[in-house]
Amino acid sequence: MDYQWYPGHMTKARRMMQENIALIDLLIELTDARAPQSGRNPDIDSLANGKSRIIVLNKADLADSEATDQWRSHFENEGILTAAVDSRKGSGVRQLKPLIDKACQEKIERNRRRGIVNRPVRAMIAGIPNVGKSTFINSFAGKAVAKTGDKPGVTKGKQWIRLNKNVELLDTPGILWPKFDDQIIGMRLAILGSIRDEITDEGELAVWLIRYLMKEYPAALEERYGFELDPANEVYDTGDAAAMPGEDGGRALDILEKIAVRRGCLKAGGQADLAKASKLLIDDYRSGRLGRITLEKP
Ligand code: G4P
Repeated sequence: MDYQWYPGHMTKARRMMQENIALIDLLIELTDARAPQSGRNPDIDSLANGKSRIIVLNKADLADSEATDQWRSHFENEGILTAAVDSRKGSGVRQLKPLIDKACQEKIERNRRRGIVNRPVRAMIAGIPNVGKSTFINSFAGKAVAKTGDKPGVTKGKQWIRLNKNVELLDTPGILWPKFDDQIIGMRLAILGSIRDEITDEGELAVWLIRYLMKEYPAALEERYGFELDPANEVYDTGDAAAMPGEDGGRALDILEKIAVRRGCLKAGGQADLAKASKLLIDDYRSGRLGRITLEKP
């Protein structure tokens, strides 16, 4: 996921998407269940104009299941079918096939009325880097599935995976670029590991994460790091991501320092090593050791 989205990359990704979208009937958009809106592509609605749509909330095993339900209702209210899956373990993946049939029903009917039979509905998977597209395709379509173009004598080009008698899936996913010119979106994507760590300072990410956790999931911090927070004294409002270290009276930094001490992140002189503690906290979040936590609510 060595993606840095220079304008050139975006132009290329957009061109590829436009080319592929022209070939398909159904777009299956993968997003991270922990930040379903921030992890979407800003231009997806115009790119996918006129296509059937499904949004898959991937990595649902790491997200707050209540928030995932809220997000699904949110997208379904916009008329888009949804699924929540854990592609790594494969749970939830089986609901996709009936969902695809449902999404494509109209198309299949229309073909039938026109006397077009044996013309499968074509679908593709798309999402920003690291959202789990390859893992999902493997889990969903399986490695053993024969690829329609994968036979001797068939010229190279687009390869399609036959899912059933009605549906074919493009075997390479579409890569979408995220929108991270908005600071809060960038912060969420960096915490998820969707954009490179070098772009954002880990200390800054850790402080933002602490502020968010204090507000939404205080017990997660207490349980993981074994200290008690005083809710009356430690109220954080992360609505304003621009409020960085110091602007909360240093309270998030105090907590980071507590984490450092608790977890033995110390410098040679015994001082708290905040950089190390930041890395540890972000790692704990990404791996799910802090619990199932969603970074934005609808
Ligand atoms: P991409 O094609 O969209 O770029 O993403 P890819 O499938 O490579 O997945 C990126 C990372 O996300 C991988 O972890 C993958 O295992 C993990 N992942 C994908 N789907 C899920 C999911 O539903 N739940 C969880 N918990 N993780 C998921 P990695 O650390 O980069 O690799 P590895 O540890 O699996 O080798």
